Amino acid sequence: MPEKTPSHLPKHVAIIMDGNGRWAKKRYLPREAGHYAGMSAVRETVRAGCDMGLENLTLFAFSSENWKRPKTEVGALMGLFRAYFRSDMDELVERNVRMRIIGHRGRVASDIQQMIQDSESRTAKNTGMNLTFAFDYGGKEEIVAAVQELARAAKDGRLDPETITPELFASRLFTSALPEPDLVIRTSGEHRLSNFLLWQSAYAELLFLDTLWPDFDRATLTAALEQFAARERRFGALDSEAVA
Ligand code: IPE
Ligand code: IPE
Ligand code: MG
Repeated sequence: MPEKTPSHLPKHVAIIMDGNGRWAKKRYLPREAGHYAGMSAVRETVRAGCDMGLENLTLFAFSSENWKRPKTEVGALMGLFRAYFRSDMDELVERNVRMRIIGHRGRVASDIQQMIQDSESRTAKNTGMNLTFAFDYGGKEEIVAAVQELARAAKDGRLDPETITPELFASRLFTSALPEPDLVIRTSGEHRLSNFLLWQSAYAELLFLDTLWPDFDRATLTAALEQFAARERRFGALDSEAVA
């Protein structure tokens, strides 16, 4: 399949990487094996995004609700996160990727916090694809944190509440440096957002795929981008034909 030209690409693709557990179950493997296979799909998707000239790719890796899972599974996911940083950072730097992590930060182990900081500072000057991992991320928490910040500023007299606009609000979110996602993909056949980028996805095209995350690859991404290109986005207005 030919590579997409940048003019057809969405500016920001965000993916809810779901279905690792079911992928493993189908093979009579432990859930952790599904997460491990999911890491290879992350690697391939990141490479494909870079090769296509995608500007922004955001991947939902661990939700603030995923702490509810058994300790062993959470431990395995944290271990994979560490492994990914160790094995892939050099390649990401080489590919000029700028890495960001959005999420709570304070709740993960201190060595992971350090890895997050190091990867962000190591790639801070990179000008290629913005690769963002949502890790210990919850959309409602993010919105509440922004509300608290604005409320504190108003209380201290540093902010007139009347001047709060959607743009000002968005500037207080973790994603302030990124455009809003124009395409949100969820794998594994589930049709929900599970607390992912709630504010930012207000006008995103949503694409639900039956593919389980470990099976997601370059071809799946290309097909998803083709589907996006065929969609008509109206943003509340009328399409061009109706206006003419
Ligand atoms: C997605 O796969 C990975 C994370 C949520 C961390 P799941 O682990 O949710 O896989 P399923 O949904 O059980 O198949
Ligand atoms: C969403 O998947 C979170 C990530 C992909 C990291 P979940 O598997 O946790 O979502 P639910 O529980 O099915 O809504
Ligand atoms: Mg799931």
